[in-house]
Amino acid sequence: MINPNMVPILDPNPLPAPYWVFKLLLVVTFFLHILAMNFVLGGAVMALAARWRSKSNPYNNRVFLDVAKKVPSLLAATITIGIAPLLFVQVLYGQYFYTSSIILAWPWFLVLVFLIAAYYGFYFVSYKGERRPDVAGRVMLLSVILVLIIGFIYSNNLMLSQVPSRWAAKYFAGTAGWNLNLSEPTLIPRYLHFMTTAVAVGGIMLVLIALAKWKQDSEYARYIFQFGGKAFMYSTMAQFVIGIWFLASLPRDLRMLFSGDNMLATVLLTFGVIGAIGSIFLMSEALRKENIRLAAYVVSGITALVILSMSVMRDILRDAYLKPYFHPQQFAVKTQWSVFPLFLVLFIGGVVLWFVMLKRYGLFTTTKATDQ
Ligand code: HEM
Repeated sequence: MINPNMVPILDPNPLPAPYWVFKLLLVVTFFLHILAMNFVLGGAVMALAARWRSKSNPYNNRVFLDVAKKVPSLLAATITIGIAPLLFVQVLYGQYFYTSSIILAWPWFLVLVFLIAAYYGFYFVSYKGERRPDVAGRVMLLSVILVLIIGFIYSNNLMLSQVPSRWAAKYFAGTAGWNLNLSEPTLIPRYLHFMTTAVAVGGIMLVLIALAKWKQDSEYARYIFQFGGKAFMYSTMAQFVIGIWFLASLPRDLRMLFSGDNMLATVLLTFGVIGAIGSIFLMSEALRKENIRLAAYVVSGITALVILSMSVMRDILRDAYLKPYFHPQQFAVKTQWSVFPLFLVLFIGGVVLWFVMLKRYGLFTTTKATDQ
């Protein structure tokens, strides 16, 4: 008889730096990864929406091309920065993450296949979108569907990694590795919460493109500003329904973390809710007064902070789920002082380089006005 709560034993190798360093790096790199992912998915969704509305306004074709050209580099950024939390999550939560990855083996493996296919699709649209707009629209749709499936597999795996008590039943129900975690009540709201944020960030991406074009190409910039600003507002409004659904789906003791049981989680949730309401209000003001700076600097700044606070909340929630099993004080630590400072310098340099590259490769510049 196999113990249904069986968790693989802790890796006896000592951590090469204090626990809190890995924890901090995990949360920070996850935040950067999810931000990049939001630009990819949100940008691609905005491009698709523009393609669908292409008959209603000639600018829509230009929006489609402008955004589609940026998506491949953003996907590269998502993957590169995804490696970092992948390493840190294995260091801290390897016992849980490896097990859930085995239970979900085939869907998990398919992430690579879907990712490569989506990548090809995005490149096709970026290079051929101008000459073959109809095919490009369909290829973009296919790539977006693949990215949505990848996100769904991630949510399945990470959610399953937090509930060791369900592993045995799931594994023995089908040992072929085709299990998804579909019976998990928090799965759908959790997943929708991530995907809807991506649409809001896609809206922000259009606002940032509008900022870059505000003076030289003002009519187009104003059009794209309204387009992106409204997408941001409506998707952020939808988060109130999805967020409440997510909270309600949590087991009661975990839900209570956000209503006073854990002070940091409660403060972060309060900040997130106020930040979201404030950003909807400020975006509507910015749209009404055509104040691009308010939208591009203040609203995107608040949104980034809200996503950061949600990333911390997600981590608090994971530790609460794993409380019966996960005891960080059990980690042996042997800090490798000879390489640790070098790692930190390279890490910070890498993040800076990443932003420089995004700028260099034209994240917020657009095609020429003649492209419309
Ligand atoms: C476009 C493709 C991708 C999408 C849409 C995506 C989406 C997501 C989502 C939604 C989550 C959160 C899941 C949850 O907690 O419910 C997540 C987490 C994560 N992703 Fe990605 N991801 C993508 C590609 C990648 C790649 C290529 C890597 C690694 C190379 C990666 C590494 C990670 C890691 C390690 C986490 C979990 C971090 C943690 O638990 O703290 N992702 N991703």
